[in-house]
Amino acid sequence: MRDEIMEAAAVMGLTERCHVSASRNLPLLKSLIRPVAVRLIETLTATSAANHLVGVDSDRLTNLLIDHWERLFEQGIDDAYVTRVTRVGIVHREHDILPKLYIQAYGWFASRLVEDLTRVPNLDTDERADLIASVTKLIFFDMAMAIGAYDVALID
Ligand code: HEM
Repeated sequence: MRDEIMEAAAVMGLTERCHVSASRNLPLLKSLIRPVAVRLIETLTATSAANHLVGVDSDRLTNLLIDHWERLFEQGIDDAYVTRVTRVGIVHREHDILPKLYIQAYGWFASRLVEDLTRVPNLDTDERADLIASVTKLIFFDMAMAIGAYDVALID
């Protein structure tokens, strides 16, 4: 993987341990991601953000989001991920979704997912703390990478 990506992960304290924690809890994460993603798209559709969703199939977009998160949590950060997230940034730039709105959506998603993780029963305290920290780091890393790719769209 490129030094630049490894450096970005190091700045966030994102380590292999974060990926292990997320992938170990993948069935739990998958069960939470879908309803949160559905609610996020419903929320965006009910606000001025809907201006960016004209003609967009909500079910398709929801599934794109779900697939994105599941792959990130399952596979972690590798070259394939970097290619995917660069494309994600470019797609959003092309839809004129400014970083402000994009970051708001990440905040919406991250806060609801963490809220749900805090409420999951029968999860060891250390495991829960590790998982919440790991997922938060992965989400913020992902947001930074996607927004970084906006510049790629501008340069191209
Ligand atoms: C949590 C934040 C978000 C994530 C993780 C996310 C993720 C994605 C992904 C993975 C794609 C597919 C990119 C590809 O074609 O390779 C996508 C496409 C798209 N996103 Fe987002 N997105 C987010 C926020 C938003 C917001 C705030 C809007 C606008 C209100 C938006 C509008 C779109 C549109 C219009 C597309 C293209 C859909 C299509 O091709 O049918 N996204 N998004």
